Amino acid sequence: MKLFKTMYPNQMRSGSAPAVRRLPQVFAALAMAISCVMASAVSAADAVGNAEAAKAKVSMCIGCHGIPGYHASFPEVYSVPMIAGQNDAYIRAALRAYAVGERTHPTMDAIAKSLSDQDIADLAAYYSKLK
Ligand code: HEC
Repeated sequence: MKLFKTMYPNQMRSGSAPAVRRLPQVFAALAMAISCVMASAVSAADAVGNAEAAKAKVSMCIGCHGIPGYHASFPEVYSVPMIAGQNDAYIRAALRAYAVGERTHPTMDAIAKSLSDQDIADLAAYYSKLK
């Protein structure tokens, strides 16, 4: 009886105790992962557009949106909306709409889906400032 009493806590310690002791670490890791996801969601929504950075990204837009010189190439691109000088928030909203399928156009869908939130912010900053 005395032996059983002394054995029991020992078995607990070597058996399930380590797993229980690891639980706080698991929760800490989870909490960190969640806060990381939330932090990136917040920064994505607040992404500050950098028109300079967009210059490396517009190569995939100029073929159709005809920038620079949109007006000059007008006859060939008449069905492509002019986005130079368009409102920053409008451009962001339009690109997000294509990305999530609220608005559809074969090419714009594919392009918008490939853009990160930062890309969208940069492109919106660039095009909204373009005359
Ligand atoms: C293959 C040609 C093509 C390419 C490349 C292209 N676009 Fe477009 N884009 C279009 C067409 C056509 C429309 C109009 C589609 C529609 O009617 O919804 C459009 C629409 C848009 C709109 C909405 C304009 C409005 O007035 O509502 C934005 C913003 C836009 N494009 C941005 C971009 C950006 C930024 C890029 C480069 C990352 C890009 N596009 C690349 C053809 C293109």
